[in-house]
Order: sequence, then C-alpha cells, then structure tokens
Amino acid sequence: MVQSSIMIYALKRLQKFYLIRKDFVRKYTNSATTLSAKDRLSYLEFIQLRQSEAKRTIVVQVNSEKSYLELSNYCKTYGNIVSAHHYDVQHEDDHHYILLEFSNEEEASAAINDSTYNIDYTGVPVRSPFLWFKATDKYQLKKNELAMQQIGLNIDGNRTIDNERLNNLLLASSCIEDQIKLLYQQTKLNDVGLRLRFLAALQVQHAVSGMFPNANAQPFGSSVNGFGRMGCDLDLILRLDKGVIGKTNTKRSESRLVFHTKENLSNGRSQIQRQMETVGDMLHLFLPGVFHVRRILQARVPIIKYHHEHLNLEVDLSMNNLTGFYMSELLYMFGELDERVRPLMFCVRRWANSCGLTNPSPGRWITNFSLTCLVIFFLQNLEQPILPTINSLFRSASQEDVHITEDGINCSFTRDFKRTGFHCKNKSQINELLLQFFEFYSQFDFHNRALSLNEGRDLPKPDHSALYIINPLEQILNVSKNVSLEECERLRIEIRNGAWLLESEIEYSTIPKSDKYSTSWGILNLFKSHENTITRPNFFLKPRMMEIKDLFDRTGTDNPTPVNGNSSTKFKNLIVKKQVQNIKSQARTEIKQMHLNATTSSAVTMTTTTPIKKTLKSKRSR
Ligand code: GTP
Ligand code: MG
Repeated sequence: MVQSSIMIYALKRLQKFYLIRKDFVRKYTNSATTLSAKDRLSYLEFIQLRQSEAKRTIVVQVNSEKSYLELSNYCKTYGNIVSAHHYDVQHEDDHHYILLEFSNEEEASAAINDSTYNIDYTGVPVRSPFLWFKATDKYQLKKNELAMQQIGLNIDGNRTIDNERLNNLLLASSCIEDQIKLLYQQTKLNDVGLRLRFLAALQVQHAVSGMFPNANAQPFGSSVNGFGRMGCDLDLILRLDKGVIGKTNTKRSESRLVFHTKENLSNGRSQIQRQMETVGDMLHLFLPGVFHVRRILQARVPIIKYHHEHLNLEVDLSMNNLTGFYMSELLYMFGELDERVRPLMFCVRRWANSCGLTNPSPGRWITNFSLTCLVIFFLQNLEQPILPTINSLFRSASQEDVHITEDGINCSFTRDFKRTGFHCKNKSQINELLLQFFEFYSQFDFHNRALSLNEGRDLPKPDHSALYIINPLEQILNVSKNVSLEECERLRIEIRNGAWLLESEIEYSTIPKSDKYSTSWGILNLFKSHENTITRPNFFLKPRMMEIKDLFDRTGTDNPTPVNGNSSTKFKNLIVKKQVQNIKSQARTEIKQMHLNATTSSAVTMTTTTPIKKTLKSKRSR
C-alpha cells in the first residue's frame, strides 16, 4: 500500500517534470525548424531568457549520475527543481556534474548562501554557483525510489556524437536532403551546451558585480547565433557598466546626485588593455574552474582566453567587441528567417573542416566566420534569393533599432524582416542549394571581385587581398584579410571538387537503396578526409592542362552572377560547348558505372583537370 502510494507520488512528480520540461524546451531551445514564426524569439529575448535561466541554476560536482536522488532530495529544501541535467568532463579521471535549475533565482541563491567552504583545502573563498556534494550517510534512500527519480535526470547532456555513430546514421538516411538535416540535428549545440555557456558568462558577471553592479557578460558568436556545434568555443563580451548589451537605454536619470568617477588616463584602447589585464588576473586568481588564462591584448580585438574546467569550455573574453555581438545578432536573424540556412551552414562548415580548409587555430586559412559570410552571400545571390541584403535591414531600422557603438560604428538594423518587404519564393531543397553553392563559387572571380553582403552583390576588389569579404558592419575592413593566396587557391580547388563530387553523388542517390548502403554515399563522401589527395596549387609551374572553367565565358561585371540550379554558363564557341558536354556526360557515365561495379573498380583513364581526376580517384577508392 505504502509502496504504491510512493509510486503514484513519484509518477505525478515525473509527469509534472516532463510537462515543465516540454514547455521549457519548446520555448527556450534555439531550434528554428520546429517553431512557428510567432513562437520564435528575438535574439535579445533569447539571450535574456537564457541569462535568467542561468541565474536560477547551480552546478554540483557529484560522484556519478547515481547521486542525483540524494542531491535532489537534499536540494528540494531550497526550492522547486524544474529541470536537472547530468554531464561529465573527461579529465585525468571522469568528473561528473549535475546542473539543477530551480524555479526562481531566490531558490538558487538560498542553496548557494547555505553552502560552506572546504576546510581541508586552502582555496580562495569565492561564492559561486559551482559546488560539490559532500558524501554523508544521512540521506541514503531506498533503491526503488532511486530508480524512479533517476528518470527525471537528463543524462550525459554534453555528450558529442562520435564520428562512427554519425557516419552510420548518415549512411542509413534515405536521401541527401535527410543526411544534411540529420547532420545539423545531431551536431548542433544542444540545450545543456547553451546552459553551460550562459553559466560561464554569469560567473564572470558576478565576479565584477561588487564594483560594477550593472556589469553584463553575454555570450556571442557561434554559441548563440545558431551556427554552433557541440563543443564550440564560447565568445564572451563583458561590459562593466553599460546595462544590457543590445538594448537601447532611453531613460536618463534625472538625479542630482552624481557618482564621482576616476578619469581615464590613457586612450580608449590602452585603457581597455589595462582593464583586461586586471580582469585576466582576477579570473586566474579567484574564479573556480578557470585555468590556463592567456592574455592576447595586442590583437585588433584584445581578448583573454581561458579554459573552464567545470564546464569543459574554451572561452574567449573581450570587452570592446560590440560589432562582434551585433554581427552575431544578424547571423541569428538569418538563421531564424529560413530553416534551410542552418543545416546548409553546418554542411559547408563540416565540409571545409574535413578537407582542411579551416583550422581551429588562427592562421592564413579561411575562418568559420568568413565561410559563414560566403554562404550568406550565396543565399542573397540566388535567382530567387533566400536572404535579403544587409543594407535593406539597415534601411528599415526603426528608432528602437538604433545602436551606435562607442567607436561610432553604426549597428542600426531592423530586427523585423517584415519591414524590409523581403519575401522568399525559393523552394529549393537543401541538397540543391549545396550543389548550387559549389557551382556558384566554382565560377566566382575571387581574383578581381569582393563580396558585399551589404549590397548582396560583388564589387571590384579595393586591394590585393587574396579573398575579399567586405565586413558588413565596418565596411572599410576585409573579414578575410588573413587568407593567403595559397589558401584561397585551395578553397577554389576544393569548391570545384565539391561541385563534381556532389553532382555525381546526386546522380548516385537515384540508385536503389540496397546497392547504396554498403558503401559511403551522399555527403559522407564530401566529408572524407582528403589528406592523401590534397592538391596544393603550384605557383611556379604552369598547369599543363587547361581548366574547364577557363573555357567558359566570364560574366563578372558589376552585377552579381545569378545562381541557377541548372547551368547558367554561356559558351563562346559551340564546338567547345559540345566538347565540354561530352566530357561531362562521359565522366558521369563512368562514375555511374563505377558505382554499379563498386567492387571491381577498373582503372579509368581521364584526360581532364586536377579536381576531376581527384574526384575520380576518391570514387575509385570506394
Ligand atoms: P566558431 O567559433 O569557429 O564556431 O565560429 P564563430 O562564428 O563563433 O566565429 P569567431 O569565434 O571567430 O567569432 C565570433 C563572432 O564574432 C562571429 O560569429 C561574428 O559574429 C563576430 N566576428 C568575427 N569576426 C568578425 C569580423 O571580422 N567582423 C565582424 N563584424 N564580426 C566578426
Ligand atoms: Mg566562436
């Protein structure tokens, strides 16, 4: 009898937990695919909801997920736990944590205020939401109760899908379109990933709030713009006394009492560098979990880098990168506008990473941000554009949208696409868009043209940078100034390879299922490591063979080159046109043949350019 009433009680609690959680996930996750337009949150609403969620949260280090019952029983004396998430961090050994979300900030504060310091340990006594759960005999509960309540815990919340499992899932998909969507769903930053990032921000904000009660630390970049994958770095901006970033402060206090303040003794930039040095020291000396603090203060945007041990995060903290923050808002808005944008972006980012075009360390290669700009520019340049130009957003800004940074940079764009009058008629599938992306850039004149996302068209290059992407918020700057000539050339080669590979994969995807699943197919072939086949451009030897691209007429004037799913290429000469068509159809037939005779792939002799050879090489090795 007693047992059954415990069971009913537990089930009711579980039901309540799931209802709250379902509602929470619906409201707060940044999944654009499942939300209707009216449910979608603006960037600022999304940031503020996540910030308030972080304020209701504590993170407790435990022995294992099995400690959840004891912990939740212990903590319910402080308030109502609305969600619980377990995650682990692989250190020398496995460290387990449980993130508890209370229903309000006061309850979380009550738990923190009641916490004690470890007297066996000579640490700096800092108050923070990072706690550990001391072992005791007092709170042991019965095993069956343990099993029941354990269900309310989201286990392994930060686990990243391993490559083998992802590959198997992609292999079993029914079409390339599904593969792309699946890749996005399986690798995007999840709810727990977001929670951990907002906790890292809150920790920094709390650390300075004694002296700067209005301080605000906010994540930006891929962690919050919807293009981040599990495990991505956290970009953080800390403002000492400016209120919520991105919110226009229209009220001016009328008080006759004015704070005395210290005068800035140096110019803005060195002042920021000095402040960041101090913040860096403070993070290093006082904040639990913060390790390996590095100061990179001479960069255009000075940053402090550190590793957070309890959150398993790499953090880049800046104090004056406001344009980065507003750029993230623009990217978030583009991702929310059309549900094809994010899956396409994920696919392009993964492709670039797998063929070694991008690299986590900074260098002469293209960054993820520049790649993001390439995708956006392409989506603006479709015959039926999927994204509007950035200038149209600027032109439609209302009074509330006006944001001018301290350096005078105008970040005033509308947050409401309806004001631009933009309407998307494009019905292409994502796999078609991916192919068109490769085709578009296969023909793009990187040598002479710059990409303007503001105007949504290409313009003459203002200087000799190998790749020129006009910085949307600071238009005198080039986002991809770092990219070397060699890396730009590699980008072009890989793009042409991508076009050829994908074109043949799309044909191959019409082959009956049973023949297909035995071997890698679809986007999996785009992601194959190209280590052995990377073709580095040779600037000293002239290519022996002509590039097929050079046979085509270039149409690059001041107008953008429209992208068209079918070939938009014009030929100067009909004989050349016939020859090119023959080469293409011959190559396709041979590739198809190779798919069919996958096991006995015979040597295929081709007389064509390097990328095509490379494509065939990888086909042969299937
Ligand atoms: P990953 O960290 O590689 O996942 O991508 P990310 O988008 O976070 O890029 P990154 O960390 O390099 O930059 C963080 C954010 O700063 C970007 O998302 C942009 O919003 C912004 N950003 C980066 N570079 C520039 C730039 O050159 N100009 C402007 N305006 N914003 C930039
Ligand atoms: Mg980043």
